[in-house]
Amino acid sequence: MLKWVYVGVKMKELINKLAENHKLSLQEWETLIGTEFLLEDLFEKADNVRREIYGNQVYIRGLIEISSYCKNDCYYCGIRCGNKNAQRYRLSKEQILDCCEAGNQLGFRTFVLQGGEDPFFTKDRVADLVSEIKKRYPENAVTLSLGEHDYETYRTWFEAGADRYLLRHETADRKHYEKLHPPQMSFEHRMQCLKNLKEIGYQVGCGFMVESPDQTNRSLAQDMQLITEFRPEMVGIGPFISHRDTPFRNEKSGSLEKTLKLLALIRLAHPHVLLPATTALGTIHPQGRELGLKAGANVVMPNLSPKDVRKKYSLYDHKICTGEEAAECIRCLKLRVESAGYEIVEDRGDYK
Ligand code: 5AD
Ligand code: FES
Repeated sequence: MLKWVYVGVKMKELINKLAENHKLSLQEWETLIGTEFLLEDLFEKADNVRREIYGNQVYIRGLIEISSYCKNDCYYCGIRCGNKNAQRYRLSKEQILDCCEAGNQLGFRTFVLQGGEDPFFTKDRVADLVSEIKKRYPENAVTLSLGEHDYETYRTWFEAGADRYLLRHETADRKHYEKLHPPQMSFEHRMQCLKNLKEIGYQVGCGFMVESPDQTNRSLAQDMQLITEFRPEMVGIGPFISHRDTPFRNEKSGSLEKTLKLLALIRLAHPHVLLPATTALGTIHPQGRELGLKAGANVVMPNLSPKDVRKKYSLYDHKICTGEEAAECIRCLKLRVESAGYEIVEDRGDYK
């Protein structure tokens, strides 16, 4: 009994310290992340911080999954090149522009072009695509999420008009990074890419999976320190979910509770961050995204990809929203967001 009272007081102290200073030592992070305690107060604190900055507004991003080809072989990912069962597709320029048109009419003011590292989408092809989208929708933001590329390529895309870039760092712990990726991929290169993106002028998003295989509370503490030091405009996190055709097929998926806890901690650590309640969170629990919003998230990313390719962009098993048209997804999400006490807005949703 006494021990629990002590734990509660200590956690409260750490949370207050975090809310005030927006940083903690590695050891403090590890304690806060690794200790179980009742999370209600933490969620409420995170929600208050989010409301002070963004009110009850939720930003939407139209996600267009442009290619399921990937030259990488990340052990967790369903579209890894080693997965011979994966169904591959890539969208044509016309298909992508059609998605943007549909999305724009549905009220989306940000388009996210995401895909595996597909050599077909060269520097010039992507630059051409981005400038065409910006020409048609000059008011809208374009976010790219196309993996690791060289400085020159990132700069060309930025000059073509891309505003933001999402590149999850996956884990800030080098040893852990090496357990999630084959030797051809390097932690240093990943980090260098993030630095380059920021230097070029993008609004940058990093992020990680929660409870991926071999993740420790120590490595999560490192993720939190990366966020407080690098101060990205966006942070994408979601539970790891196993995929049947990957080496991690038998690994346990991440939990709702831990993901929500980390969302709330990220909000306190970096109050202005744009923080999505991800599809992966909606996949592990029917109210996952609503609960994510209540724990501090302020962005949702409905899928605008053509219905016939949805199932093929299969990063993990049982992914939701693969049978719905974009219009159905957005209608469903509007209701969900409202039921949680927030409101979707037609806005580019820039970092404040
Ligand atoms: N479970 C959850 N998230 C995954 N991602 C890739 N595979 C999985 C999985 N099995 C995430 C990675 C990647 C993003 C596009 O999707 O973090 O950066
Ligand atoms: Fe690397 Fe998919 S194989 S993210």
